[in-house]
Amino acid sequence: MTLKFMTAEEAASLINNNDNIGFSGFTHAGCPKVVPVALAKRAEDEHAKGNPFKVGMFTGASTGDSIDGALARAHAIKFRTPYQTNKDMRNAINSGEVPYFDLHLSTLAQDLRYGFYGPVDVAIIEASDVTVNGEIVPTCGVGIIPTIARLAKIVIVELNSWHPKELRGMHDLIELPTPPHREHIPVYSVRDRIGKDYVKVDPEKIVVVKTNKPNEGGSFTPVDEITKQIGLNAVSFFIKEMQEGRIPETFLPVQSGVGNIANAVLSALGESKDIPDFEVYTEVIQDAVIGLMEAGRIKFASGGTLTVSNPCIERIYKNLPFFRERIIFRTAEISNNPEIARRLGIIAMNTALEADIFGNINSTHVMGSKLMNGIGGSGDFARSAYLSIFLTPSTAKDGKISAFVPMVSHTDHSEHSVKVIISEYGVADLRGKSPKDRAACIIENCVHPDYRPLLYAYLNSGANGQTPVNLDRAFDFHKSFMSTGDMRNAEMG
Ligand code: COA
Repeated sequence: MTLKFMTAEEAASLINNNDNIGFSGFTHAGCPKVVPVALAKRAEDEHAKGNPFKVGMFTGASTGDSIDGALARAHAIKFRTPYQTNKDMRNAINSGEVPYFDLHLSTLAQDLRYGFYGPVDVAIIEASDVTVNGEIVPTCGVGIIPTIARLAKIVIVELNSWHPKELRGMHDLIELPTPPHREHIPVYSVRDRIGKDYVKVDPEKIVVVKTNKPNEGGSFTPVDEITKQIGLNAVSFFIKEMQEGRIPETFLPVQSGVGNIANAVLSALGESKDIPDFEVYTEVIQDAVIGLMEAGRIKFASGGTLTVSNPCIERIYKNLPFFRERIIFRTAEISNNPEIARRLGIIAMNTALEADIFGNINSTHVMGSKLMNGIGGSGDFARSAYLSIFLTPSTAKDGKISAFVPMVSHTDHSEHSVKVIISEYGVADLRGKSPKDRAACIIENCVHPDYRPLLYAYLNSGANGQTPVNLDRAFDFHKSFMSTGDMRNAEMG
């Protein structure tokens, strides 16, 4: 038996109009890079001939520009799920061209197994190795690989020699059995392995495209004064929690969300002399984790992906034996699994776009209607964590937008899943507080001073009841921004 090798264009020609495609990877990491570009070209050629050509897209999370960007620009998308961060894709979604549905990332593989969204016709998987008997070893991001590899009729493997074959051994890949008699998932500690370090498919359905393409990740914005202060506030909160016995001396596994704020908070945790060495159970392993691992502060990281800059991943690949002992790559249904998050007692730290004074969180929609990225894994962790924390700078757009509003314009995480909110001004510990007390706590501790009088005026504007929502005024901050370009012009009195 020998494997079939093809060019990217030949592989793309195997994909038909209306097919649903499952892509490997999680963020840009682990995503295929040449076949999607060839597919986008194919779609453009078909469109030029007057033929329809669109595909459905299932991914682990966001992807690189070669997937979301190329296919969006080629107008080649029938639907998209579950998460994206690409400017062209975002525009296509918000203009109404691309139907998009947002999912908790842990649920997609199971939803696909049950056919909620139709078949997976083709899988395109970036691999560091593939064997003649059909064993595929992913690269540095997993996502939904085991499920799409099994379900797809055609598995296109992008064998990318930019990634070392020695990655084999770092993955832990399984699919969960079907309900209703599913047993518990035997992950009792961050380090437990429960699966294989490859996925195996019938080699007959594999075609291989050889590439040598670097990752498509950008670099992180350096920590600024605001993100640094958010990190320091988080650290002070954790120290107090340890002193008062609500976090054990050994600390708890940390999940930290995507982006610059999460990266900055992890750095602050690592730099604090009062926080013990800790472990990470998360979906996205970012640059800060790697630096702290090298410094001995992070002992182990379980995640779904290495979402790091290219200089950082090159550092990892040069020192692979060190990192192999300290990192596991899991599928999204295990890295983000609520059962495991609850069992391990995870401290979940995710970023909000906006929060309201009662503790509801909007992670996804600007002014209630424009999609930013998607819910990602934030809900997987927030609902099930031991301590669910949301972080945000107090304002956006040079102070014209307050991150704290009377009522969120879109709800991703309800007040019931949010225990603590942290801004650069301080920490609002919402545990055990009524909605009215939560409002006072958030305004005093987290809100920018420009907006405190406005939010107090709202709170005292006549609404009563358990949660004093003034239906006439609840969206005045947003309406003021839409009409004047500045939320500070809201008249709440
Ligand atoms: N209204 C309008 N725009 C806002 C805003 C608000 N309330 N709050 C922030 N923004 C803008 C910022 O100005 C910035 O715009 P820019 O790109 O033009 O500069 C942009 O949103 C991103 O904000 P930033 O403060 O840099 O945060 P971030 O990069 O950390 O991203 C989220 C924040 C919420 C978009 C991001 O964390 C996310 O996608 N979360 C959902 C998924 C998730 O949490 N996954 C983690 C699970 S492990």
